[in-house]
Amino acid sequence: MDQDPVKSPLIIFDTTLRDGEQSPGASMTSDEKVRIAKALERLRVDVIEAGFPIASHDDFAAVKAVAEVVRNSTVCALARALERDIDRAAEAVRPAQASRIHTFIATSPIHMREKLRMQPDDVLQQAVKAVRHARQLCDDVEFSPEDAGRSDPDFLCRIIEAVIGAGARTINIPDTVGYNFPHQFGALVRALMERVPNADQAVFSVHCHNDLGLAVANSLSAVLNGARQVECTINGLGERAGNAALEEVVMAVRTRHDLFECDTRVDTTQIVPTSRLVSTITGFAVQPNKAIVGANAFAHESGIHQDGVIKRRETYEIMRAEDVGWTANRMVLGKHSGRNAFRVRAAELGIEFRSDAEFNAVFGRFKDLADKKHDIFDEDIQALIGEGATRQVEEVFTLLSLKVSSETGRRPRAEITLSQSGTTQTAVAEGSGPVDAAFKAIEAIVTSGIQLQLYSVNSITSGTDSQGEVTVRLEKGGRIVNGHGADTDIVVASVKAYLNALNKIITPVDRAHPQASKAV
Ligand code: KIV
Ligand code: ZN
Repeated sequence: MDQDPVKSPLIIFDTTLRDGEQSPGASMTSDEKVRIAKALERLRVDVIEAGFPIASHDDFAAVKAVAEVVRNSTVCALARALERDIDRAAEAVRPAQASRIHTFIATSPIHMREKLRMQPDDVLQQAVKAVRHARQLCDDVEFSPEDAGRSDPDFLCRIIEAVIGAGARTINIPDTVGYNFPHQFGALVRALMERVPNADQAVFSVHCHNDLGLAVANSLSAVLNGARQVECTINGLGERAGNAALEEVVMAVRTRHDLFECDTRVDTTQIVPTSRLVSTITGFAVQPNKAIVGANAFAHESGIHQDGVIKRRETYEIMRAEDVGWTANRMVLGKHSGRNAFRVRAAELGIEFRSDAEFNAVFGRFKDLADKKHDIFDEDIQALIGEGATRQVEEVFTLLSLKVSSETGRRPRAEITLSQSGTTQTAVAEGSGPVDAAFKAIEAIVTSGIQLQLYSVNSITSGTDSQGEVTVRLEKGGRIVNGHGADTDIVVASVKAYLNALNKIITPVDRAHPQASKAV
C-alpha cells in the first residue's frame, strides 16, 4: 500500500522516543533508542523526535546516536524556549542528514500563571527569541504553544503569527492534557489557519494526548480541518494515558481514503514489527483488543464471523492483516543454524552488530537458547538482542544460581545466589508461588525497600517451549523503572527482570523533564 500520489502529504512525526519515553518506567538506553529509530526509518515516518537533549548527558548522547544513523527521516530534538536548550538540541541533531529543532513554551492561562509565572506578552517575546535563535542553528524549526487546547485562541493567533514571522516552519497545536473534543479541536485548527495572516508559510501540526481516549479522534478531526502533520507514537505510548497511536492514525487515513485529501508515506507492513519492538524494549505490553496491533485485532471467534470471513473477507474485515505486517510466526533458525545464517537473519531484522565481540555474545546466547528450544523465531532473536541491551545497565547484582522447588501441598521455596559487585551471597525464602519465593529471596539479600508495582509475563511465541518475557516495574522514592528478562524458564526470566530493574533503580540519575519546570 503506497502513498497516494495525487493527495497532499500528511507528515507523520513520531515521538515514541521523546513523549513515549516520558511514560513512567519507559526509559530506554541509547542503544534501544537507536534500534527503535531504525525501525521507525523502515516504517518511513517523516520525522523522528529522538529526545530532549538538555535533560541529561545520556539523553544528549542518545539523540546524537540517532542522528548519526538515521538517513531517510528527519531527526528532531526538543528544546524549551531557552537558548541553552536550543544550543544543546542543535548540537545533538547536527550529524543528521535532515534535522529539526522543536521548541515550545506554554500559552494557556493556567500554565503561564502557575507554571511559568509570566505575562502573556513576555511569553510571546520569549517564543520569538527562541525561534529566531533556533533558525540561526537549523533551517527546520517547529514551534509548539504548549497546552494550546486550553489557550485563548486570540493569544494563539498573536503568538503563532509572531513565531512564523521569526522563521518557524511548523506550528504544532498540542492538546497537552487531552481535554478537547474532536469537533472543537478541528474547529480550533481551522480557525487558526484561517485567522493567522501568514499561516500559509507554515505546516500546521497536532499533538494530542489521550486522557479522555480521544487522541486519535482529535488528530483526525484536525487533519480533516487542514492540519498536515500529526505527532503520534507507536502503540500510543506517552505521558499519562499516552499520545495518538501512530498505527491508528495511519490506518484510519489509508482505510478511509474517501474522507481524506492527504496521505502518508508510511510502509504499513512495518507497523506490527515496530509495535512489537517498542513493546519488547519498553515492557509496555499491547492489550489484545488494541486496534491494528493487538493480538485479537484480526482474530475472529464467533462462528458467524468466521463463516463470513471465509466466504468473503470484506464481510467483517476493513483492512488486511498482511497490510499492517501480521504474518504467521516464521521458523527462521534452529540448533544447526550457523553464524552466517544468524547474522543474515539479524540483518534482515535491521539488527547490526558493532563489533565481533558483540556478535559473539549474542550468537552464544542464541546457541544456548537453541539447545533448549527447537524453533527460533524472529521474536526470539529480538529478545536475545534485548537481553544484550539489559546487560548494558551497570550490573551491581548478578544472578549466579537459582534453585526452586514447587510441589502440591507444599509452600514453594527458592534458594538464590547473587553476586554483589564480586561478593557472593545466598538466601532462601518461601512464597505463595515460585516467583514470589524467588523475589523474596532476592530481597532477603538486597533489602532494597522498593515496591513492586507491576509483574507481567508474556510468551514471546506460541507453544509451551516458548520463551517467557517478563516485565517488572519497581518504585522507590517516586522513581519508577521497568526491568525485563526473557528465558524459557519463567522463574529465571522473572529473576532476570527483577535484577535488571533493581540494577537500574540503584543507579542514580539526574534528568530534567521538559514540561516540569519554569522556562526561564
Ligand atoms: O504535550 C505537549 O504539549 C508536548 C509538547 C512538548 C509538544 O509534549
Ligand atoms: Zn506531549
